[in-house]
Amino acid sequence: MALLAAVGCSESSAESAIPCTVEAVLEAKCLRCHGEPTQLGAPYSFSDLSRIREVRGDKPVYERIAAALRVDFMPPLDVEAEPAVQPLSAREKRVLLEWVNEGAPSVKRGACD
Ligand code: HEC
Repeated sequence: MALLAAVGCSESSAESAIPCTVEAVLEAKCLRCHGEPTQLGAPYSFSDLSRIREVRGDKPVYERIAAALRVDFMPPLDVEAEPAVQPLSAREKRVLLEWVNEGAPSVKRGACD
């Protein structure tokens, strides 16, 4: 399959992971609700790449993320939480959107420590 070939790189043992710039934003702004387990009524977990690529309903979760970001549906500033939910900075939004718009591509695990 083309997908496997693309991820294969030179090392057969390489595992795929979320790019660390993306992971940092998810951790700071999304995972308190979309973590494992999900909190405060959030529907999907973004705790790892396989979950973000899972097809839920009619489309993969990363396409749902793209849609939610485009209309500023997420993060939900009206949800009461302690500490209060913070909006994304312009940079954080761009990092997430670029990644989901590309189809949530992986990097080699540990590549950006
Ligand atoms: C304070 C908790 C909280 C935070 C933080 C949060 N979410 Fe959510 N999220 C929710 C809840 C609750 C829902 C369900 C809302 C609804 O359906 O009305 C939801 C729904 C979603 C959905 C589903 C939309 C669909 O297709 O049905 C996506 C995608 C999503 N969030 C992405 C994100 C992203 C990306 C972030 C970080 C930038 C984020 N969320 C941060 C609570 C949160």
